[in-house]
Amino acid sequence: MSATTSSERRMTTLDMRLKKERGLPITWLTAYDYPTALAIDRAGMDGILVGDSLGMVVLGYATTLPVTMDEMIHHCKAVARGARRALLVGDMPFLSYQVSPEEAVRNAGRFLQEVGMDAVKLEGGESILPSLQAIIAAGIPVMGHLGLTPQSIHQLGGYRVQGKTAAAARRLIEDALRLERAGCFSIVLESIPARLGQLVSRRLGIPTIGIGAGAGCDGQVLVTHDLLGLFDRFTPKFAKRYADFNGEMARAFNRYREEVEQHAFPAAEHSAEMPDEEWHALLADLGEPGADEP
Ligand code: KIV
Repeated sequence: MSATTSSERRMTTLDMRLKKERGLPITWLTAYDYPTALAIDRAGMDGILVGDSLGMVVLGYATTLPVTMDEMIHHCKAVARGARRALLVGDMPFLSYQVSPEEAVRNAGRFLQEVGMDAVKLEGGESILPSLQAIIAAGIPVMGHLGLTPQSIHQLGGYRVQGKTAAAARRLIEDALRLERAGCFSIVLESIPARLGQLVSRRLGIPTIGIGAGAGCDGQVLVTHDLLGLFDRFTPKFAKRYADFNGEMARAFNRYREEVEQHAFPAAEHSAEMPDEEWHALLADLGEPGADEP
């Protein structure tokens, strides 16, 4: 089995580990719908995260907090239909794992049982350990998420870089080690200093997937809408825009409106016709002029 296989088989959590051991960068993106999942999968990405970021970039919420389990399941289903090869992770939304370990297991199980995700992701360290351990004990692979954890945005006081003091960095390292010991197969590190990202990655056997955590992480993930320039409310400093889909979309919509208004669309090639004899029979039937014309 090769960690770099280009075969059609689904990537596994073990493949992620093997890629780290071989020093091969791991590639992840988020997706929330079928066509995007298909395109990401065809581009050879190792993993697809159906992130609760969909609350902001797809559903228009101000934060990720209002996202529900049912919304996550709905989008995960679409992604699962599009992806054949990438490892699929469903993001557990706010309050789906914080209330009790029992609820956490039931909700995590839905991602695998109803939708076909391969794993789930939870935000947080020590405080969520009981739920995280219960999910793993149920046989469900878990990806951790440390640093800037958007579900705690009100506690963190905004979307700011985390782990900037020695004490905060130390707490993050301890949390990362706890998550590894608990059995997480990987950890997302969001918005932390680059050298801290590298240090955590070096200290862990499991792969780290960075987003705004520098080049020293074992892999990278971006919110696809940021990468495509599709979300115009704001782009985080750490996100690189590889395209201007928002501009492209505006240009296409304006052009379509103009062409409809100017009767330039639809043209003959976009229209269907019926056989002449049927047309003339219809006109004759209706007593419309032109029924006798060839
Ligand atoms: O919800 C999400 O998309 C995420 C990524 C930013 C890692 O958690």
